[in-house]
Amino acid sequence: MDLFEYQAKELFAKHGVPVTPGTVAFTPEEAREAAEAYGGPVVVKAQVKTGGRGKAGGVKLADSPDDAEAKAADILGLDIKGHVVRRLLITPAADIDTEYYVSFLLDRANRTYLGMASVEGGMDIEEVARTKPEALARVPIDALTGVDAAKALEIVSEARFPEDVAGQVADVLQQLWRVIVEEDATLVEVNPLIKTPDGQILALDGKVTLDENADFRHPDNAQYAVHDETDPLEAAAKAKDLNYVKLDGSVGVIGNGAGLVMSTLDVVAYAGEDFGGVKPANFLDIGGGASAEVMANGLEIILSDPQVKAVLVNVFGGITSCDAVANGIAQAFAMLAERGDVVDRPIVCRLDGNNAEEGRRILNESGNEVVELVATMDAAARRVAELAAAK
Ligand SMILES: Nc1ncnc2c1ncn2[C@@H]1O[C@H](COP(=O)(O)OP(=O)(O)OP(=O)(O)O)[C@@H](O)[C@H]1O
Ligand SMILES: [Mg+2]
Repeated sequence: MDLFEYQAKELFAKHGVPVTPGTVAFTPEEAREAAEAYGGPVVVKAQVKTGGRGKAGGVKLADSPDDAEAKAADILGLDIKGHVVRRLLITPAADIDTEYYVSFLLDRANRTYLGMASVEGGMDIEEVARTKPEALARVPIDALTGVDAAKALEIVSEARFPEDVAGQVADVLQQLWRVIVEEDATLVEVNPLIKTPDGQILALDGKVTLDENADFRHPDNAQYAVHDETDPLEAAAKAKDLNYVKLDGSVGVIGNGAGLVMSTLDVVAYAGEDFGGVKPANFLDIGGGASAEVMANGLEIILSDPQVKAVLVNVFGGITSCDAVANGIAQAFAMLAERGDVVDRPIVCRLDGNNAEEGRRILNESGNEVVELVATMDAAARRVAELAAAK
């Protein structure tokens, strides 16, 4: 889970990283009130989970409460790379002498962690990394020994931080490493980490990605999930414990097993090319033991997406055999009918694997007019694309 800047800075503060105070505002009036409370100039910052906010006009200095209200009105509603700004962070403006860059991330390719730092931080760090790679120090970090004082100083010296800030930056690096370890984060990034004219080090920005697999160790971090900004269908699916990702096309896809569903998306998109560019509408993995209830929940989510014109159920029977899945599908229709949901769009089913024949017989005899059985995955993808295109 990616955090908003203000959430990232809360975690930074918890582990001792020096940050400026901040107030979240949802309206221009709230921005004004926050600016009044701080008293001096403030920075009004778009809270969206994407980079490049400053360049997109999402970070603005305001020198009075009036100005903060006006800047907030400008920024709210702004579309930054597909993310609409709904919340702002109001934070006192800091005096900046120099902008640095520091980060830690899980380096999957090298099966280790990586620390990165540069004395040329600020909004153009991507440019620096591209055109002057030598200005961005990259130091591998052993997960077992982590970032102790010596490792922190190694990073500081590789990146050539000046003498006067070396100690403070090394402290911040150790504190940020604690965020990685103690919060189970896979990324922490500070850009810019600044030096003020009186020589203080401060984190002015923050990015944190938490490892959701470790959520059970951090019940408190559940507060960071902001439901009103995720897709409503994804939120509904999450509430039902379904592995669902909304996509942009018109073919609903259900399968058992993430790998099978991924390849189903591919074959649907491929077959769809012959039908004017039909594409999958979602990813939905109902997992191994597909009970009738899980199938019904899955179909309900998929059919509540108005973009869906046809559905492909692609099941490979393994430990859960095809007859069990077929019974699940048949019962799912009954359950949906009971809930008052009419299945009004064609459902193409491909059943293969353990006990496939019996599964097909059950589905054929269940007498559902919307269900069409197709024997192979490729043929099923073609048929569902054809049906979706015809609607
Ligand atoms: N509290 C602050 N006081 C003074 N200047 C600030 C403050 N916060 C940000 N800035 C200035 O605005 C620039 C952009 O801010 P910030 O780094 O938060 O956003 P960004 O880098 O554009 O966004 P992203 O990190 O999403 O790409 C900073 O490099 C800094 O110069
Ligand atoms: Mg930044």
